[in-house]
Amino acid sequence: MSTGWMLPDEVMNYIFTNVSKGSTILEFGSGQGSVNLSMQYNLISVEHNEEWIGLSSGEYIHAEIVENPISTRFGQKGWYDSEKLLNLPSFVDVIIIDGPPGDVGRIGILNHLELLPSFSICIVDDTDREEESLLLEKLMPVLDFKDQIEIMSSSRRGNGKLRKSTVLVRG
Ligand SMILES: C[S@@+](CC[C@H](N)C(=O)[O-])C[C@H]1O[C@@H](n2cnc3c(N)ncnc32)[C@H](O)[C@@H]1O
Repeated sequence: MSTGWMLPDEVMNYIFTNVSKGSTILEFGSGQGSVNLSMQYNLISVEHNEEWIGLSSGEYIHAEIVENPISTRFGQKGWYDSEKLLNLPSFVDVIIIDGPPGDVGRIGILNHLELLPSFSICIVDDTDREEESLLLEKLMPVLDFKDQIEIMSSSRRGNGKLRKSTVLVRG
């Protein structure tokens, strides 16, 4: 069973069911869940905190958090250092947005969309939260996608709310 920090089991099951073994996954925000993903996929994890680097057998990119204008505008601390993301592959099968953690914020990804590889599926975790719901709202017009799937987790937050993740599938 996943802990509150890991991608929910329901999202893991979605990935294992819908993404072929050996596919490439680019994950923003790493943790224990990365260990499971790296057993079946070519996993690239972007992580700011050394404590969460090296757990999985995948590739890690250590990128510190730096300020950027969009994060600042939304009152968030920053996003990963874009200088560390210049050599990402041109295509990955899946992008998972599950970091940086909530106290840093994730909206800064909007400042660096040109660095992202093209992809088939994008999973935004924690979209039940106001900040990630806003991120999703801003990402949707710029990502050309065909299907949107909401995955509700059976696990609840401290406030009793059900966790939600959103999967955007390109045509
Ligand atoms: C939501 S977690 C990412 C979890 C990861 N995608 C997984 O499935 O395990 C976001 C950030 O919190 C930190 N983190 C990961 N696992 C943690 C844990 N068990 N406790 C505290 N922080 C954690 C890492 O810096 C990570 O980038």
